[in-house]
Amino acid sequence: MAADLRISDYLHEAPQRPSDLAQHTQCDARAMHRLLRALAGIGVFNERDDGSFELTPTGELLRSDVPGSLQSIARLIGSELQWPTLGNLSHTVRTGEPAFEHVFGMSMWEYLATNADARALFQSSMSAFSTAEVRAILDNYDFSDAITVVDVAGGQGTLLAAIVDKYPHVEGILFEQPEVTREARDQFVANGLGHRCRAIAGDMFSTIPTGADCYIMKSVLHDWDDERATRLLRICRDAMVDRARLLIITRVVRPANEPDLSKFQDLNMLINLNGAERTADEFRELLGHADLQLHEIIATPSPLSILVCTPDTSSRPGAL
Ligand SMILES: C[S@@+](CC[C@H](N)C(=O)[O-])C[C@H]1O[C@@H](n2cnc3c(N)ncnc32)[C@H](O)[C@@H]1O
Repeated sequence: MAADLRISDYLHEAPQRPSDLAQHTQCDARAMHRLLRALAGIGVFNERDDGSFELTPTGELLRSDVPGSLQSIARLIGSELQWPTLGNLSHTVRTGEPAFEHVFGMSMWEYLATNADARALFQSSMSAFSTAEVRAILDNYDFSDAITVVDVAGGQGTLLAAIVDKYPHVEGILFEQPEVTREARDQFVANGLGHRCRAIAGDMFSTIPTGADCYIMKSVLHDWDDERATRLLRICRDAMVDRARLLIITRVVRPANEPDLSKFQDLNMLINLNGAERTADEFRELLGHADLQLHEIIATPSPLSILVCTPDTSSRPGAL
């Protein structure tokens, strides 16, 4: 709510009283005070002796224009896309079906395709996650022997732009849905990378650009059930030359009783998309169905690991 009302953007200008903030945001002054007081209690804002509120370092992250801003992620979590579906977890647990379709009468992708505001919020949240994760990925994986990197369903291109920026010999191809490629192209041009990053529009369940030596799927497979995820991996395998690799950048669910937030993120994926977070063994099995093999799992300081996958050429007809 505080992110949606852009309270941190107002407080960045100067500390403000709840009544002033309520006026700017067209809210009730007493309710605003109680919201600010609650958030001050968990370190988002600080109440000063004169009754005005100011930003803390945590509250700074809810500004719209700071590097590493979490504003869009907080807005997404509190948005119409999340609350109604979370409130229908029981439907999902009883039926095994995503609550999103029960609530909205269509899949989340169909909803995003027809609702520009929700799509903009979703994509900017994905980019904000990527911005937070990029450093952990680049610090833990060396792209220096890659020539062409295809980021499959790479969102607005945040990760691809960072790779191409760090490795001046690398050419980047972003493969995404048409409405997203437009935003990605703008970002590449704005970062001076327009000559080395292309954005190609298409449906990854039909085709993926062929012949590159490095493919990436970051936070993509968890959107899909096993059948669709296998299909996607199969299409990717068919696009890859034998020496190419696929980097699946993803959460890996820890075994059985080990505490792991990924197990809750898994429920979130189930509710919204009929997707899944997966264990290492589940990834191995999926990859096997698509003639790919898991070569290495690289942990990073972020919740994501890098699964380095290569074609399993032993399954080709004629192979020994
Ligand atoms: C969870 S987001 C991840 C985006 C990006 N890889 C990242 O980590 O920020 C999944 C992406 O899949 C894209 N997508 C969904 N269906 C697609 C399709 N059929 N073809 C291409 N991209 C698709 C969406 O537009 C969205 O950007």
